[in-house]
Amino acid sequence: MEILILAGGLSHERDVSVRSGRRVQEALRDGGHDVVVRDVDTELIPTLQEHPGRVVWPLLHGSSGEDGSIQGLLELLGVPYVGTAAKAARAAWVKPIAKSIYSRSGIATPDYVTLPQSLFREVGAEKVLDAVVERFGLPLVVKPARGGSALGVSIVTERAELPRAMVHCFAYGDTALIERAIEGTEVAVSVVGSGDDARALIPVEISCEGAYDYDARYNPGRVEYFAPARLAPEKLSAVADAAVAVHRVLGLKDLSRIDTIVDADGTPYVLDVNVAPGMTETSLFPQAAEAAGFSLSALYGEIAAGAATSA
Ligand SMILES: Nc1ncnc2c1ncn2[C@@H]1O[C@H](COP(=O)(O)OP(=O)(O)O)[C@@H](O)[C@H]1O
Ligand SMILES: [Mg+2]
Repeated sequence: MEILILAGGLSHERDVSVRSGRRVQEALRDGGHDVVVRDVDTELIPTLQEHPGRVVWPLLHGSSGEDGSIQGLLELLGVPYVGTAAKAARAAWVKPIAKSIYSRSGIATPDYVTLPQSLFREVGAEKVLDAVVERFGLPLVVKPARGGSALGVSIVTERAELPRAMVHCFAYGDTALIERAIEGTEVAVSVVGSGDDARALIPVEISCEGAYDYDARYNPGRVEYFAPARLAPEKLSAVADAAVAVHRVLGLKDLSRIDTIVDADGTPYVLDVNVAPGMTETSLFPQAAEAAGFSLSALYGEIAAGAATSA
């Protein structure tokens, strides 16, 4: 196959995207495919039009890559591509929208409130924050309604830390999601396939000293991963089932990663949905695939082939 990987972009996660692109390129080349990586720029459309048979694999993290924009463009041009279609990506990208969709099908997610910066200022920051703490208690998690790689995310254990967490969050976007913090085991479940054929790879536990933040994610050392997660078999299958259910109800395609925390009772709380999961050397998706016994070359080749035939 001829495959064009899109990596780079202008989001805060540009670096990660470039590294993901390189890794997927290597794996696909090992599988004998003809693979080029390029960024998104004014030559993109002519390049796509010159190579009509090529499958595109968008590995752009952050907005435009994950919010459905690039997918919409590829649909407009009639180019076959890997991953979730524009419409579904758009809903999955906005955390409160995704949460409202999958929670309707009975999937647990932390209680939350969404606060645009403008409203926050209009009604008085301190008063809103008091109401939030009264309703949800502490600790709380403050995060941008749209985002990734834990950028702008704070875990707040004291009321006095909340204003700073809000300012930090608003540096990454104009809407904050404040949610109840869940205590338990952090587990990421990668899902491959689509619809009835979607299946979970091995759930990976993230055991982190301190917060599982940007630094912990991309610099090896502070985090230990366990694949499979160290959970009783019934909890492990419950979290895998929840991830597959989220993937299906949101209409995700080919691959995704669903981030969860499994509490002491074994309830998997879904935090976050990623339509373009990281594919770097420390990323969870490739770890889950290798733990499930897949060669990355074979699995990525299968994913790209699926996109070529379903277009
Ligand atoms: N409700 C929560 N309870 C406990 N920890 C959380 C919660 N929400 C997020 N976190 C922590 O913050 C990290 C980033 O949050 P997440 O919602 O996955 O955002 P991102 O899209 O940036 O990955 C998670 O990996 C987890 O460690
Ligand atoms: Mg996440």
